[in-house]
Amino acid sequence: MTLIENVSLRRVLDSRGNPTVEADVLTQSGGFGRAAAPSGASTGEYEAIELPPSEAIASARRHAIPRLVGEVHAGNQREVDSTLRAADGTDDFSEIGANSAVAISMAASKAGADVLGAPLYQHLGGAFRGDNFPVPLGNIVGGGEHAKEATHIQEFLAAPVGAPSVSEAVFANAAVHARASEILDERGTPAAKGDEGAWAPPISDAEAFEVMDEAVSDVADELGFEIRFGLDVAAAELYDEDEDGYVYGDEVKSTEEQIDYVADLVDEYELVYVEDPLDENDYEGFAELTDRVGDRTLVCGDDLFVTNVERLQDGIDADAGNSILVKPNQIGTLSDAFDAIELANKNGYESVISHRSGETEDTTIAHLAVATDAAFIKTGTVQGERTAKLNELIRIADDAV
Ligand code: PGA
Ligand code: ZN
Repeated sequence: MTLIENVSLRRVLDSRGNPTVEADVLTQSGGFGRAAAPSGASTGEYEAIELPPSEAIASARRHAIPRLVGEVHAGNQREVDSTLRAADGTDDFSEIGANSAVAISMAASKAGADVLGAPLYQHLGGAFRGDNFPVPLGNIVGGGEHAKEATHIQEFLAAPVGAPSVSEAVFANAAVHARASEILDERGTPAAKGDEGAWAPPISDAEAFEVMDEAVSDVADELGFEIRFGLDVAAAELYDEDEDGYVYGDEVKSTEEQIDYVADLVDEYELVYVEDPLDENDYEGFAELTDRVGDRTLVCGDDLFVTNVERLQDGIDADAGNSILVKPNQIGTLSDAFDAIELANKNGYESVISHRSGETEDTTIAHLAVATDAAFIKTGTVQGERTAKLNELIRIADDAV
């Protein structure tokens, strides 16, 4: 019933104005799914390969589409994804592009759900999920690779952990974002926005902590539930091999100093979440930090694990981190992302489903986060390509998708 009849690929705009790959999958019974690949700026060294969209499209048309059409059922996600892997023939999707692969993989899942008449999160496994909803991590202030002349730490993320519902959590993050803007104005540093819609003020990281702390506690007082915050340090972007340390403008921190710095921040600000606090090759440093603060915060590997089960297994073996960031385009297919989540679950690691800095209106990750009972979803705070996912979360909670 879900046999794939047609797959079409095209270039569409992403939120940075760059081209990205969009896929349409049509089944013989009229099921339809459409999805688009996101794109990172602070990409991990070990991610699957994103090709220039026109190359990725041409290559997928040549190698992958003929193996899918009339051959594979869209409802059989494992078969769709193993066919994409076989058609590509490499470990890192460098032949058809992880951007073509993930767009087709996600579009097929939507076509499969459409044939069943089920919402995507149920088709992906959400029928058995509990009542928990992923808590949205809202990017409020940031810099790094997402904005020039702003903070060194890439993202300061609001975490409305006490919100009674997903909708209240989403609106709490928007309120923190608005409050942060007022505080920046009061300090005489009005700010432009970075790629994900976070404020990107020309202030020090120390000042950004003050702004976050104030914004989060003001909104928590106003709304009457607990809101904490966390970070994506994106430390691989700060790490300089020649300096053998982390470069914060004129200051260089050694690995030990970086671990002390982050551990102190966790305690001073009661951070609930710290992503990529160390370089993407430093399993040992991750393990040391996790040993020190892992009982009271999530230490999450993004560039460290790149949604890859082998890298995650290495991390589990080394006790590096206690949480994994999951970005389907880092690995190329939904099945691979599920495998990473399953391995994480089995080993007591929390999953955090994430957008990329370059995004589209695609809402697949909202469904993925609900389907897999993820602890958090990181998908921005405001701005259309971010609110597309946040509003979809609200609709899923309302059973209105
Ligand atoms: P990216 O950043 O999408 O630019 O890689 C997001 C992140 O580091 O989590
Ligand atoms: Zn990250």
